[in-house]
Amino acid sequence: MTIGVFDSGLGGLSVLHFAQKMLPNENFIYYADEKHVPYGEKTPEEIRLLVNDIIHFMIRKGVDAIIIACNTATSALTMAYRKRFPIPIIGMEPAVKKAIDLYGAEKKRILVMATPVTIKGKKLHNLVERVDSRKKVDLVELPQLVRFAEKGIFSSAQVGEYLRQALQSYDLPSYGTVVLGCTHFNYFKNELQKLFQNTPHFVDGNEGTVRQLIRVLFLSTEAGGNGITEYYFSGKPVDESGLKLINSCRIQLDQVFGIN
Ligand code: DGL
Repeated sequence: MTIGVFDSGLGGLSVLHFAQKMLPNENFIYYADEKHVPYGEKTPEEIRLLVNDIIHFMIRKGVDAIIIACNTATSALTMAYRKRFPIPIIGMEPAVKKAIDLYGAEKKRILVMATPVTIKGKKLHNLVERVDSRKKVDLVELPQLVRFAEKGIFSSAQVGEYLRQALQSYDLPSYGTVVLGCTHFNYFKNELQKLFQNTPHFVDGNEGTVRQLIRVLFLSTEAGGNGITEYYFSGKPVDESGLKLINSCRIQLDQVFGIN
């Protein structure tokens, strides 16, 4: 089968990376909307128009299902919209439920990091209201991390300074779990762990999203396949400099997640 995976930019590569490892027999098309990144500072209506074009592009390419590897885009879309298409469209939301199910019994707090659109969106608020009965969840917007990631800057004095400033009003030792609620933020797990030295758990939505795809399409995770992946930047096949950027993201993901 061929699975379409898209994001506003390079963040969704973390989902793709995971999907490729789990589903070596499948082919993938990865679409980064490099012309329009970041989505997290646009209006939901602007995002819906961009996403609509991407979904139609993927369908023309003949994909069997689509993963929206972007919490922000998922937040801007309704379920009814996703159901209008003839193939399954799997979204992503910050792994708040996973954080509460796994570690909610601990006394410590949970910090959800995401883009402004996701943090302000109704979807996340409804989710938190539904699962956070003990009022342990705090939210923080970190839009600048998306810009750093797009430049391939994953660790620098600037990144450290930005994070320190953005998080200065939060009591960092009080958090037991950090939820990486934007796929671009996965690249900064190491950097964040330096700041959150007493925080044992960092959770993301990659595995849950890929498992949902496997369930919906009844895919086999048998090893030994030789799937192919094509990459597009805003509808155009990636050129050499794009491939270089993708490669540096991959190296960072291997470091952060320790997947080979
Ligand atoms: N990677 C996206 C997410 O998971 C959004 C980044 C952006 O374009 O602002 O939310």
